[in-house]
Amino acid sequence: MKNILVLGAAGQIGSELVPYLRNIYGAQNVVATYRSTPLIPEIMEGGPCENMDAMDAERMMSVVKKYDIDTIVNLVAVLSAVGESKPTLAWKINMESMINSLEVARETKAAVFLPSSIGAFGPNTPMDNTPQDTLMRPSTIYGISKVAAELLGDYYFVKYGVDCRGLRYPGIISNVTLPGGGTTDYAVEIYYEAIKNKKYTCNLGAGTFLDMMYMPDALRALVELMEADPAKLVHRNCFNVSAMSFDPEMIAAEIKKHIPDFAMDYNVDPVKQAIANSWPNYMDHSAAQQEWGWKPEYDLGSMTADMLKILGARLA
Ligand code: SER
Repeated sequence: MKNILVLGAAGQIGSELVPYLRNIYGAQNVVATYRSTPLIPEIMEGGPCENMDAMDAERMMSVVKKYDIDTIVNLVAVLSAVGESKPTLAWKINMESMINSLEVARETKAAVFLPSSIGAFGPNTPMDNTPQDTLMRPSTIYGISKVAAELLGDYYFVKYGVDCRGLRYPGIISNVTLPGGGTTDYAVEIYYEAIKNKKYTCNLGAGTFLDMMYMPDALRALVELMEADPAKLVHRNCFNVSAMSFDPEMIAAEIKKHIPDFAMDYNVDPVKQAIANSWPNYMDHSAAQQEWGWKPEYDLGSMTADMLKILGARLA
């Protein structure tokens, strides 16, 4: 990677990925794009930025040519829960941004990073130790768009030689920009509420186990995969990656170690609960370990300590 285009840079991952990449590859070599949501000042002032719609292929092509882009990171997506209230819009945004990225990459010989998700799995996928290669029949429009994108990534690689690589991200926990409209969002919100109010009402029920990852691991995984020796990659689109698996009771208990009077109760959202029930409890990520050396650094304990320290200082 030399000149990188990050589509959707105002979102949860983008707002931390852009500064991370600028640190490694040079501020002028990482272009951040956004549509309606403004970029955080650190990104806006820290290097090149473009206001563009990832559904506009011509505009994407002109930005790619202007900056001599060799890698496109497409983070544009409508997430799982909000997708269920606007399925046709979610399909349009998720698929058009992806096919445009692949088409522009095909014409310009750029590489593509494809973020997939635990949401690509469905209710008849094995829930425990979910294999890298398994049954994928998701029941959300988000998941359907992710499976389609994974297949497109393979198709563009085999048919056109586009160097497309991807990760099946779990729920990502972070402290710069809140996620919007996902099923795993509770695991971010709980930290903000613990600091601000010492209580949290959880919208997923006790015993709902899901894969999760702290943002620093998610950013490092992306760079390590994109820099991996292509000869070693068998599963390009996409690799299971995980760092931890927990349910709401476990994250609340971990927070209580730092904030003893923290209290959690439940008000289960049936849409989110049904989605969570259809996703893995924990994935097998041995293919990522074997093919490019994936190893998470943060577990629930170290992530919680870091989240509470950072948010405690900021929200105090
Ligand atoms: N965090 C996403 C969601 O909950 C899953 O990839 O929709």
